[in-house]
Amino acid sequence: MRDYLLIYVNGRRYQISGVRGFQSLSDFLRCDLGLVGTKVVCAEGDCGSCTVLIGRVRNSELHYEGIDSCIQYLFQLDCAHVITVEGLKDEGQKIHPVQKAMVDAVGSQCGYCTPGFVMALVAMLETKETLTRHSIQEGLTGNLCRCTGYEQIIDAGLSLKQQAIPRVSKRFATEEMLADFTEQLAEPVFCEYEEKWNGAVQQVQFFVPATLEEALEFKQKNQHVTIVAGGTDISVQMNKERIEPNCIMSLTHLTGLEILEIENKTVTVGAGVTWTKLGEYCQQHLPQLAEIISIFASRQIKNAATLAGNIANASPIADSLPFLYVIDAEIELSRSQPDASVGKRWVRINQFYQGYKKTKMKPEELITRIRWNLPEVEDVLKLYKVSKRKDLDISTFTAGILLKLKNGKIQKARLAFGGVGPVVLRLPNTERFLQGKPMVLAIFKEAGKLAREEISPISDVRSSSDYRSQLAENILMKFFHECCDTQDNKEVA
Ligand SMILES: Cc1cc2nc3c(=O)[nH]c(=O)nc-3n(C[C@H](O)[C@H](O)[C@H](O)COP(=O)(O)OP(=O)(O)OC[C@H]3O[C@@H](n4cnc5c(N)ncnc54)[C@H](O)[C@@H]3O)c2cc1C
Ligand code: FES
Ligand code: FES
Repeated sequence: MRDYLLIYVNGRRYQISGVRGFQSLSDFLRCDLGLVGTKVVCAEGDCGSCTVLIGRVRNSELHYEGIDSCIQYLFQLDCAHVITVEGLKDEGQKIHPVQKAMVDAVGSQCGYCTPGFVMALVAMLETKETLTRHSIQEGLTGNLCRCTGYEQIIDAGLSLKQQAIPRVSKRFATEEMLADFTEQLAEPVFCEYEEKWNGAVQQVQFFVPATLEEALEFKQKNQHVTIVAGGTDISVQMNKERIEPNCIMSLTHLTGLEILEIENKTVTVGAGVTWTKLGEYCQQHLPQLAEIISIFASRQIKNAATLAGNIANASPIADSLPFLYVIDAEIELSRSQPDASVGKRWVRINQFYQGYKKTKMKPEELITRIRWNLPEVEDVLKLYKVSKRKDLDISTFTAGILLKLKNGKIQKARLAFGGVGPVVLRLPNTERFLQGKPMVLAIFKEAGKLAREEISPISDVRSSSDYRSQLAENILMKFFHECCDTQDNKEVA
């Protein structure tokens, strides 16, 4: 068992233990290492000014992605290589082509957001993404600038001669790092220290297991432990001091949880699969979900956050839930058995939530996989997210509608609405009403009225209860019109 975290920053090796493991990456870079090029503005993943590249071992290579360093804590970054804006200059101390392009296009005024934009563009070059206006806009969704204006920044991106720019990770001795990481990854990490506050002493600890068995055993013995996957929900709460966990387990090294496969039309997603990976996968297999993922958070968040975290966080406006409800997904919950083997059970998502932020997961359990069957040819699936802004915004209202059609009639209907109650709601009365009915506008108008009666949303900062009720009614009409725009449904209608 190691008692330190191993992290490389711009090619330099650091061993971190005790209280220092409990820092956010941005604090570590700025306060401990003096790398103040990484800026912090919001400290909650919303502005991208703290963007850095993180390289982790995947399939025996270091794979780099852009993430928000303000909401990644060091205990999540064992065996990772961090590249900051200071790491961009080459041996001749020349600035990087992305930095030069920003200067030439006048893409910076006060400059506070600029390192974040530069790093987000560098991340796109690193993953060899073709830079077009659309891809740049999409890749920079998570970066906010309050004074320059985005056109110049997009121009800077478009001016890059992509093929001629070597990947920045190649500047570092990645083979040595890879060998170091590969050796150390086999061992779990456990660090603890004593925190003294007002005369009281408490033990603070974090654990980074190397295997699922170790993770489940630790959970069995420490049922109050706070689990961290991507940390995009947890770290925001820690930064805002809403929670101060004193025992943490990070799941980053459990590569067995990164399974993403389809077999006999059943999709299985491991608890370690990020939204980025799921989005890429869904483009081919499930375009409706891919569309929702395209407006989920930002690139930096999706590179860290997981579907399992979205489910376990149990928010009634989590974007994955209406889909998982109507597709009737199942969640695998695992626990350690007395003989140290892994015990498993599957729970239907429709039975998983028991109230606001309450789930059927037992204290000793972890989510390990999620599975669902793909829609069939006669199924019509549509997913909706309504928010004040299209990108990088929390939902006001979400909906999933899945109908099975046969001979112009609705054989089966599943409706799930989010943001209209303490948990995502299925609408049994409306579903029953739709069953056996033809696909005609009058039916969907009537269904909309019924849907409205089945919910009792509250008013909050995002919208009034009236607005949410109106959305619930209107979404059925929207669904009808969208379906009837396709040739098949025009004939049915
Ligand atoms: C800027 C920003 C934008 C966002 N935008 C969206 C959005 O558009 N839509 C949306 O739905 N959400 C959004 N979120 C919320 C968040 O990104 C998602 O909920 C995400 O899927 C959480 O995943 P995670 O891996 O980061 O979870 P974490 O923060 O690691 O964990 C979340 C919760 O799940 C628990 N947990 C995690 N993994 C497991 C497991 N395997 N077993 C048991 N418990 C587990 C944790 O203990 C914690 O309680 C946003 C967050 C931020 C900061
Ligand atoms: S400081 Fe705003 S995303 Fe990190
Ligand atoms: S240049 Fe000032 S915030 Fe972007």
